[in-house]
Amino acid sequence: MKVAVLGAAGGIGQALALLLKTQLPAGSKLSLYDIAPVTPGVAVDLSHIPTDVEVKGFAGEDPTAALVDADVVLMSAGVARKPGMDRSDLFNINAGIVRNLMEKVAVTCPKALVGIITNPVNTTVAIAAEVLKNAGVYDKNRLFGITTLDVIRSETFIAELKGLNVADVKVNVIGGHSGVTILPLLSQVEGVTFTDEEVAAMTTRIQNAGTEVVEAKAGGGSATLSMGQAACRFGLSLVRGLQGEANVVECAYVDGGSEHAEFFAQPVVLGKNGVEKVLPYGDISAFEANARDAMLDTLKGDIKLGVEFVK
Ligand code: NAI
Repeated sequence: MKVAVLGAAGGIGQALALLLKTQLPAGSKLSLYDIAPVTPGVAVDLSHIPTDVEVKGFAGEDPTAALVDADVVLMSAGVARKPGMDRSDLFNINAGIVRNLMEKVAVTCPKALVGIITNPVNTTVAIAAEVLKNAGVYDKNRLFGITTLDVIRSETFIAELKGLNVADVKVNVIGGHSGVTILPLLSQVEGVTFTDEEVAAMTTRIQNAGTEVVEAKAGGGSATLSMGQAACRFGLSLVRGLQGEANVVECAYVDGGSEHAEFFAQPVVLGKNGVEKVLPYGDISAFEANARDAMLDTLKGDIKLGVEFVK
């Protein structure tokens, strides 16, 4: 397996690369790319860790060398939030970065599974899809917006609130990846009951958790270490699916034929060709149904922005 990280010199990219170097299956290759000149040095640094994962680093304007033969591409290239910004403020810079990198993916490794981390994910995934469509290589089963950070935050916060072992807490988070489009399905968490007040407060906390980090870092960026962990979990799940492991399930923002929007985060089974099956997200509460319906205009607007950007 070859995994390429684009944006690998950044806060997320370096954390992700470290975790992948120590957790990818033996014999894997890890390819790091960033416009920052330090990137080959990041690879040399990681290469001194004694695992059977070969690391190479590439810098400069062209990611092609990093993408050759990639099975999985994880993209965190772009700028991150500062206090007072929401994810849509990143659109002007990050939209062009994602478009340009996806043009190279379309030519160099069109069959790779691509996980987009770069915000605003609701929009950048639509941009990536349009670029792949224009190149005639779009396969909806191979493109993912990585929303795993919303899932691990939900697991952590619920375990803390209810005094549970976090390893036992499983939560589906559906919708998208910003503000009200993030919808944790608290009613489905096994063995846990929430009061109405707890549901409202917990949902809001999960939706605003990114801002919690942005404000705490006070101008120093947004979530990088927890996102590195989330992207590693998702990337390893993609690899496990590619290697034929059964029942690998993650929530992700995909073009999965949802009745709600062209792209919608929901649980999917991962396999040798990416999305093997989109799973129904199951029964939800009246609160959740209202929140789902109320988010759709925002989500569809975010998607439209991405489609129009490429046109
Ligand atoms: P960062 O600023 O630390 O790193 C970004 C890296 O991208 C830098 O090393 C920069 O040189 C590189 N870069 C910029 N343009 C590039 C290009 N054209 N090609 C290759 N590399 C390029 O930012 P950080 O904290 O790593 O965040 C990266 C992105 O991830 C941001 O857009 C952020 O909003 C997003 N993010 C997504 C989350 C999610 O849940 N999906 C969670 C947290 C952040």
